[in-house]
Amino acid sequence: MTTTPVVRTPAPGVAPAPHVTPDVTPGTAPSEVPTGLWPASARPGPDGDVAVGGVSLTEAADRFGTPLYVLDEGEVRRRCRTYRAAFPPDKADVVYAAKAFLCRTVVRWVREEGLGLDVCSAGELLLAVGAGFPAERIVLHGNAKSPEDLRTAVRLGVGRIVVDSTSEITRLAALVLRGNRQPVMIRVVPGISAGGHAAVRTGTDDQKFGLSLTDGSAQHAIDRVLGQPRLELVGLHCHIGSQITAVKPYVAAVRRMVGLLARVREQHGIALPQLDIGGGHGIAYRPGERALDVPALAARVRAELVDGCTRAGLPVPRLTVEPGRALIGPAGVAVYRVLAVKRTGTTTFVAVDGGMSDNPRPALYGVRYAPRLVGRSSASPDRVVTVVGRHCEAGDVLADGVELPGDVRPGDLLAVPAAGAYHLSMASGYNLVGRPPVVSVDEGTARLLVRRESLDDMQRRDVGV
Ligand code: LLP
Repeated sequence: MTTTPVVRTPAPGVAPAPHVTPDVTPGTAPSEVPTGLWPASARPGPDGDVAVGGVSLTEAADRFGTPLYVLDEGEVRRRCRTYRAAFPPDKADVVYAAKAFLCRTVVRWVREEGLGLDVCSAGELLLAVGAGFPAERIVLHGNAKSPEDLRTAVRLGVGRIVVDSTSEITRLAALVLRGNRQPVMIRVVPGISAGGHAAVRTGTDDQKFGLSLTDGSAQHAIDRVLGQPRLELVGLHCHIGSQITAVKPYVAAVRRMVGLLARVREQHGIALPQLDIGGGHGIAYRPGERALDVPALAARVRAELVDGCTRAGLPVPRLTVEPGRALIGPAGVAVYRVLAVKRTGTTTFVAVDGGMSDNPRPALYGVRYAPRLVGRSSASPDRVVTVVGRHCEAGDVLADGVELPGDVRPGDLLAVPAAGAYHLSMASGYNLVGRPPVVSVDEGTARLLVRRESLDDMQRRDVGV
């Protein structure tokens, strides 16, 4: 997952080259489909087309319209299996963070692959359970859980609730029926700074999540939970940030968490059976970017956990990891149609029919993507352009400084890889454009998972006169 070798378009009539050609330099030329960035099933096709999961993106765009989100089922399942292999079920749970993207079919894929599910609201929870996900394999998170969130979780019997504040403890305990015990974990802030942007760094004391290790709040919450007969403290949790590409911060977090497990044992005489180290595993969005090495993460975290626990004389707790982006991000491709091309000053702007309403990440975190032309080949030399969305803000920029064929024009299709996580789950109704549909692709078949949001959908909520 750390390199982005490329596949080159074969000459017409020639069988595609083997998918991975590691000795080729990564690049963005439209004839290439960098692996690691694109789903492994991506294949260059005739006339500049690209197929994903055996489905032509051009045909999918014609059939379902644009903007369109394509999700490669095989890629999601393959990534789930990579995690299961790295974190084997006899020692660890892999829990998919639903906030990255959730719909009924994804719930089914994750269930079939043997993963758990991390949810953050009654909405995510009800969707998952309604689609057949076993409640006992669900973890509920949230720094501000509503009464409805907690009631629904207790009623449905979710496996674990992660306590994020002391005030939550009595509220939660009051909802548990006499004779029952709700398993809970405490979200601890271990004091480790990591993550792709300040907005997604959650491992230090200057942000809203969790209970601090350094000021004693975590220890206080542990005491409080242990004092509640209807709550069962099963372990500790931390989530240090998101889009992290190095293993080291996780190892450091494990060291601190094992220190706290040891203190709990000293003070209360109990060895907590579980440790959840959250998610945050980074992926590549552009050629040359690194993804977190998942097998290396698993090996080093395991080694640290076993060593630390052995030194402290603790039994090794069962580990949980909560990847979201790394399971679904690289399986998604966004397909847009170009609506306008114009030159302003020294910049050529290529404007597409989506933007910050379907992908707010560039506007929120200043990140950029690597779009490519699909659906026609071009002999025009590349030129450097800025790809923008259709929304009423200058910050609605998907990519800048990217090379596209010089004759890129309205009607062309642009495809954007690494679009599966935190795009549609954070989509908005801005400018009443309507949220795009999601289509799964696998072995040559495309299936509509989520239909396009229509003006009618939006108008139905607007009940004023
Ligand atoms: N567990 C907890 C408690 C979390 O808060 C998160 C993400 C995850 C797991 C999964 O993190 P992942 O493996 O997907 O990085 N909207 C931002 C990312 C926000 C992440 C929020 N929490 C983005 O687009 O980069």
